[in-house]
Amino acid sequence: MEPIKRDAWGGQRCIMRSVGAFFSLSRYSAVLRGRAGEGVEIDRPARFFVGRTNAPALTLPQSTGVPGEGICHLPTTALRKRWSRAIIYPGQFGILPGGKERRTMSEPSQLSKDLVQRGQRVLVPNYARQPVVMARGQDCWAWDAEGKRYLDLFAGFGGGILGHCNPELVAAATKQAGTLWHVGNTFYTQPQIELAERLNRHAFTGQAFFCHSGAEANEAACKLARLRGNQHDPKKWKIISLTHSFHGRTLAMIAATGNLAIRQGFEPDVPGFEQVEAGNFEALARAVDSQTAGVLIEPIQGEGGVNLYPEGYIQRVRELCDKHELTLIFDEVWTGCGRTGRWFAHQHFKDASGKVIEPDIMTLGKAVGGGLPVGIMYAKPPVAELFGPGKHGSTLGGNAICATVSRTILDIIDRDGLVERAALLGEQAQARLKNESSIRNKIAEIRGRGLFLGIELKEPPQQFMDKALAMGVIVNLTAKKVIRIAPPLNIEQGLWAQGLGLITQLIASL
Ligand SMILES: Cc1ncc(COP(=O)(O)O)c(C=O)c1O
Repeated sequence: MEPIKRDAWGGQRCIMRSVGAFFSLSRYSAVLRGRAGEGVEIDRPARFFVGRTNAPALTLPQSTGVPGEGICHLPTTALRKRWSRAIIYPGQFGILPGGKERRTMSEPSQLSKDLVQRGQRVLVPNYARQPVVMARGQDCWAWDAEGKRYLDLFAGFGGGILGHCNPELVAAATKQAGTLWHVGNTFYTQPQIELAERLNRHAFTGQAFFCHSGAEANEAACKLARLRGNQHDPKKWKIISLTHSFHGRTLAMIAATGNLAIRQGFEPDVPGFEQVEAGNFEALARAVDSQTAGVLIEPIQGEGGVNLYPEGYIQRVRELCDKHELTLIFDEVWTGCGRTGRWFAHQHFKDASGKVIEPDIMTLGKAVGGGLPVGIMYAKPPVAELFGPGKHGSTLGGNAICATVSRTILDIIDRDGLVERAALLGEQAQARLKNESSIRNKIAEIRGRGLFLGIELKEPPQQFMDKALAMGVIVNLTAKKVIRIAPPLNIEQGLWAQGLGLITQLIASL
C-alpha cells in the first residue's frame, strides 16, 4: 500500500492534509527524516524535529541509529483526532512494518524520465550517467527524485569528504557569501591566507596557489617544474609519470596520465610527458635524462585501481629526484585531506630516520573543496617563488567562499580527529571484508589505506552499477574490476558497518 498521498512535489515541501490516510497503518511506525531542525512538522503545537545531535531539538522518541532519522510510534486515533496537518519532505520517510524499512518508490517518475531526456538533449554525453536524477543529500545519504535513498560510500569521487550538506560547511559558506564572494587576486583575502596556513600546519612548509580542479593544480605543478628546469643548462623540461596513473583531463594532463584510452583521439600528445611502469624503480631511473625536469606520482594510485607501490619505492624516487635535481610532485588529488588515514598520503612514507618523505610540490583537489571546486598547488618556498607575478594565474581561484569552506573542512577534520578515525575504520573494514567467507571466492585482493579501499574482483562484474543502485548503495568500479570505496570521513560507525554489509551482499550477488 502506498503509505503517502502526495499533493505536491518538485523539491518543495509536500503538505499532507490527508493525515488519516498517512497514518492509517496504525500498527506501523513511521520513520521520519529531514534536515536538521526542520525535517518534519506535524500539527502546529506538536513539532517533531528530525535532526543531527546539534539540531535545535531532536524530539523523535526513538533513533534508528542513522543521523537525521528517528522513529515515532504514533497511535492512529490520536493522530486522527488531534493532528490536522503534517508537512513532510517527499521521499524522506518510509514505513517500518515490524521494524524493517520498506524501500519504496524505485520506479522512475515521469519527472525523472523527463529530466533524463532533457539532460540527454542538452548535456555533452561525456559521462556514462545512470538514468537516475539525484535530488538531495544529507550526511552519507543521497535521495533520488523518487525518494529512494542511497548510502553514499563514494562521496562523489571523493569530493564530499564530510558528506552532503554538512551543516557547518553550509553555515561557513552562507556566512562568507554574505560577507565577500570574490575579489581579484591582486588583493589579499583572509580566507586564502587561513587556508594556506592550515596546509602549513598539516603538511610541510609551503606556499599555495588556488585553482578549481585537480587537473589545473597538476598543470600548475608541471609548469612550475618546467620553470625550475629551465634554469638549468641544458634546459630540463620533461615530466615522467607512471603507468595506471591519472592526473586529469586537460591536454597536458592526459599526456601525463598513464592510461592510453584517455588520450585516444586527441593526438598528437602534448610533448614532454612520458610514463614508466608504476612501482618499477629501475625503469624510472633509466628514463631520467638530462632533459628530465620532474616526476609526477600519486602516492597511492586512485583511478588506476587503488594501487600501492612496493616497500621503499617512494623513498628511492625522492633520492633519485634529489640526485638529479628533479622536482618531485605528489598528486594528492584523491589521497589528500585525511582520506588514507594520514593528512596527506605521502606521510605514510618515511626514511630510515623516521622523517616523512616530502615532495617539492603537492597537488590537491576533490576533498579539499568538500564538493565545491577547489584545486591547490602547494609548493615548497624555494620552488614556489619562481612563480613570480604574471607567471601563472586563475581569475576565480581561491575565491572567498571556496577558500572559507576549504579551511573549515580542514578545521573539522582536525577537531574531530577524522584522520586517525579514517585509519582505524579502514583497517577494521579491510579485516572484516577479508574475513567474509561469502565473497572470498570472488575477490582477488583487498587493498588501500584508511577510507580509500579497493576490492579487486577476480572477474569484471556484470551490471555492477545497476545492482549497486538497486541495493541503495553508491560505490564505484574502476580499472574494470576494482570496486572503490571512499565514504565521507565522518561516516557514523554503525552506518559504515551497515555499508560494509551492503558491499558484501553486492559482491555476493555479482
Ligand atoms: C589523482 C588525480 N589527479 C587529478 C585528477 C583530476 O582532478 P579533476 O577532475 O578535479 O580535474 C583526478 C581525478 O579523478 C585524480 O584522481
